[in-house]
Amino acid sequence: MSETACFLLDGNEIELPLIRGSEGETAVDISTLRSKTGAITLDIGYKNTGATTSAITFLDGEKGILRHRGYSIEELANNSCFLEVAYLLIFGELPNKQQYEQFETEVRRHTLVNEDMQNIFKAWPTKSHPMGQLTAMISSLSSFYPECLDPNQSKEDQKLTMIRLVAKMPTISAMLYKKSIGHPVVYPNNSLDYVSNFLNMTFKHITEDYEIDPIVVEAMNKLLILHADHEQNCSTSTVRMVGSSNANLYSCISAGIAALWGPLHGGANQQVIEMLERIKSDGGDATKYINKAKDKDDSFRLMGFGHRVYKNHDPRATIIKKSCDDILNKLGVNDPVFDIAKKLEETALADSYFIERKLFPNVDFYSGIIYRAIGFPIEMFTVLFALGRLPGWVAQWREMRDQNQPIGRPRQIYTGYAPRAFVPMANR
Ligand code: SDX
Repeated sequence: MSETACFLLDGNEIELPLIRGSEGETAVDISTLRSKTGAITLDIGYKNTGATTSAITFLDGEKGILRHRGYSIEELANNSCFLEVAYLLIFGELPNKQQYEQFETEVRRHTLVNEDMQNIFKAWPTKSHPMGQLTAMISSLSSFYPECLDPNQSKEDQKLTMIRLVAKMPTISAMLYKKSIGHPVVYPNNSLDYVSNFLNMTFKHITEDYEIDPIVVEAMNKLLILHADHEQNCSTSTVRMVGSSNANLYSCISAGIAALWGPLHGGANQQVIEMLERIKSDGGDATKYINKAKDKDDSFRLMGFGHRVYKNHDPRATIIKKSCDDILNKLGVNDPVFDIAKKLEETALADSYFIERKLFPNVDFYSGIIYRAIGFPIEMFTVLFALGRLPGWVAQWREMRDQNQPIGRPRQIYTGYAPRAFVPMANR
């Protein structure tokens, strides 16, 4: 006998089935609510509404828990490489040596992009934001691989599209950086591992050798793992929504990149550094800016703080903060905004406004400090978030396709005019 929830609506008792998740989460299945009652639910921003079941990522916001396919983010960040976690997210299991080497070989075979993409790049104004370019470049891949347009493509062709995205995202991301500084692109070097290849394409100058620093490789692997997936966040929900119309995967990922660009979402990592630089140039007074963030008449927000789900701490922020000290010391970088960030966190976490609203540093609060120490310009920060999130988006898209979900089409409550007669323009 399935468990149910009962409630009264207009004097009628309604029973709806309960769904229990494998970690004890509970949902009321309202899929028959409208047919039974004519009523719908309304939940602006989907703060209490599940869009799907999923076996990929589990979050417990109250306890600050994040797991991918059952493995804790702490263990993955400390023991895996990013491509290994990408495999785990997409295929559901940690790969053995043979599976990993085969996956790595398949990815290496597709790191090059069509030379015609250079022409698309040349069309962009020099100071274009890389996220706008990335959105377009990923969508343009459907032109080079039109077989992806068939929603009934074979599982093999579907896997090839996923591999192409994992393989080409670093190449395109590095091309964005080279374009921004007016330097020629550096092609993939498939003798390198995934992250080293990305760093080489990004930072190698075409006329010189580039020494790959293992400290930077380790830091990038960890940062990309920490961004890899995060259940039904704004950009992932966008990927799933676009995918539900049978749009091709490149278009779905392009839409996800567009959503991630928003300053309330992935774009926050760029905003954090801009905010810290503003505070530094204004004398570094953390208390002044904490008060501005609390002032409802002031539009200032403490970027990198707060989260829809985490009401304890963001485990990713904890790991990144710990890594900050380590990586900056190893790289011999002394970034004054790191001290300002730590002071802001200390002041905010002692302030009742932040305590009452359970506002803690999120994944974006410290990540930019490491990106900058490695040498990335601030405009590339959200591109790096997208690079990390790519396998999560692909995994969520694949799951949605495998679940054979219907096209996403939320309802609404209409609050406009009652019926009224048309008035010819001459009479208005
Ligand atoms: C990411 O969803 C995910 O999983 C996202 C992500 C992922 O991995 O995909 O984790 C990545 O997007 C992290 C979040 C990055 N964004 C920022 O750092 C931008 C700053 N943070 C906020 O704008 C906000 O906290 C959000 C957008 C993250 C969450 O917004 P919610 O859940 O809609 O919360 P809210 O805006 O309704 O805030 C609740 C209260 C409000 O005050 P009251 O109206 O109750 O008085 O908290 C206040 C807000 O004003 N508040 C803040 C604040 N964040 C929330 N006040 C000051 N500074 C902030 N940063």
